[in-house]
Amino acid sequence: MKKLTPLLLLALSMAQAAPAQDIEAGKAVFKNCAACHRIGEGAKNAAGPVLNNVIGRAAGTFEGFKYGKGMKEASTKGLVWDAEKIEAYIADPKKYLRAFTGNKRAKAKMRFKLKDAQKRRDVVAYVASFSKPAATQAAMASESTAHNGMVSAPTDIKANQICVQNAGKQPYFFAVDGGGDTRLTNTLAPGETLCTTAMDMAKTGKVSVFETADHLEGCTRIIPIGRAEQMLKYADFDRCRWSSNDS
Ligand code: HEC
Repeated sequence: MKKLTPLLLLALSMAQAAPAQDIEAGKAVFKNCAACHRIGEGAKNAAGPVLNNVIGRAAGTFEGFKYGKGMKEASTKGLVWDAEKIEAYIADPKKYLRAFTGNKRAKAKMRFKLKDAQKRRDVVAYVASFSKPAATQAAMASESTAHNGMVSAPTDIKANQICVQNAGKQPYFFAVDGGGDTRLTNTLAPGETLCTTAMDMAKTGKVSVFETADHLEGCTRIIPIGRAEQMLKYADFDRCRWSSNDS
């Protein structure tokens, strides 16, 4: 093993000193949100929409809540909540909706700003703990899409996750690697997704596919953390088609 450089050691100790997020601390911060939002079992809409399963939810779509025009516009323009987006949104909802929609006059119905970045991270970690894990949601999505034979990409990836989905026609052997000891492997049936949680400081990770677990030659792609890559069509020696080929 290579020796750790002093800089890397420093970075590692800093990562430990300042935890990225803290659900317990977030619970206390949520008292601010609770003036308008309910979360947990039996939660109902109040001045703001219910925040259960908000990670992966298309913005402005909780049933029975009357959203503002700006939020609806953002929703039609494809806003889907993940942890990072919620952190940015709650810092300044109006500014966020204006930036997202490109509409300088967009209004925000949520009149609350959380200035402190650490508190934002913590409260979003708390809110996210009421969202189903990405893997479960992806499995549910693939179950529901299995009926019409189409595979839609998982949209509920957490900011620190990296996932790969088998959007091919038969089972293959997959690997996801977010650095350190985060590598996971599994054989995935068509439509199934495999996710791992990336190492704290990783910016990119690696997804790979092989014909079976015994094959050494397959395809690999480096993709940003926070992304679900779809393997569309398998062809060995790195000639597979991936969703990021098309974008
Ligand atoms: C003063 C009331 C109020 C407070 C306090 C408040 N919100 Fe909101 N929130 C709203 C309203 C109203 C909306 C709907 C916004 C719209 O339609 O433009 C909303 C929307 C949201 C959404 C988007 C939900 C969706 O279904 O698209 C998220 C996420 C959110 N709030 C998170 C938070 C968090 C986290 C806090 C605490 C840090 C918080 N809010 C504090 C009123 C509030």
